[in-house]
Amino acid sequence: MLNNLLYFIMKVLVATEKPFAKVAVDGIRQVVEENGGELVLLEKYTSVDQFKKAVSDVEALIVRSDKVTSEILDAAKNLKIVVRAGAGYDNLDLEACTKKGVVAMNTPGQNSNAVAELAIGLMIYISRACFSGVSGTEISGKTLGIHAYGNVGKLVGRAASSLGMKVAAYDPFITDASVYAKDSVTKMDSIKDLYSKNQYVSIHIPATKETIGSIGYDLAMSMPKNGVLVNTARKEVIDEEGLLKALLERTDLKYVTDVAPERSAEYCEKLGTRFFATPKKMGAQTAEANINAGIAAAKQIVDFIKNGNRRFQLNK
Ligand code: 3PG
Repeated sequence: MLNNLLYFIMKVLVATEKPFAKVAVDGIRQVVEENGGELVLLEKYTSVDQFKKAVSDVEALIVRSDKVTSEILDAAKNLKIVVRAGAGYDNLDLEACTKKGVVAMNTPGQNSNAVAELAIGLMIYISRACFSGVSGTEISGKTLGIHAYGNVGKLVGRAASSLGMKVAAYDPFITDASVYAKDSVTKMDSIKDLYSKNQYVSIHIPATKETIGSIGYDLAMSMPKNGVLVNTARKEVIDEEGLLKALLERTDLKYVTDVAPERSAEYCEKLGTRFFATPKKMGAQTAEANINAGIAAAKQIVDFIKNGNRRFQLNK
């Protein structure tokens, strides 16, 4: 009875500082409206106050990397569910969600291919000296270490081996050797081995208490000659000072990243074409990823409100 009532009055806010492609918004709207709901759109907002105002009377919220803090949750008087349309949920305050009785979910796997394609693209871009006109190198025949073998890591591995790279991976949460063997990927037993034995390393770890600032001077310095570090995960996992120090000491190393580091200007100035950062997080910025993650989020909301389905709940 309660579920039916919520189902009929459902108001869903899509709050995206970095908007979805229009085609994805249309798809989300269709799912919401077909299920008796109303879609409210807040795009490219510039202040927390705008977000607080928009969220004040909605039952459901879809976000991307937008920060859902206790301040936002306090303003969201009717909120029952928030879905991060994407994989990484370091932008959701899960404790505050639980305190407020708000169910928090993500949509794992829905935008992985876009991120994986970007990782490969960045690898090639930096290896070709950012297409600056000077001679670069190829990735075929080189070794690639994948740091975390989840949805994105697996897709990067598959694409890289089809381009002729020799792929290895390290993931502390996947200890079953058959997972790697099945994909013809060499299982690495430590982070240290991953970085010291592979010329390219592609980072796919989430930003957590344990991983923030965990990749810096020592790991970079341990990389083989002409090492290339590729980061399409989170800028927070990098110890920026330590990495810059290593890049300045080892002029053979390169760093390419989706999302500029805090010290981007200094990195650019000191490293030239050995460094490249996207101006905005671009990993999931494809129409396909927006459609997949956005529509999955809308469907998860409907399924939760109508049927109580909590499959992707994060704050259990
Ligand atoms: C994710 O965690 O899903 C990706 O980093 C994409 O984030 P975005 O939706 O903010 O582009």
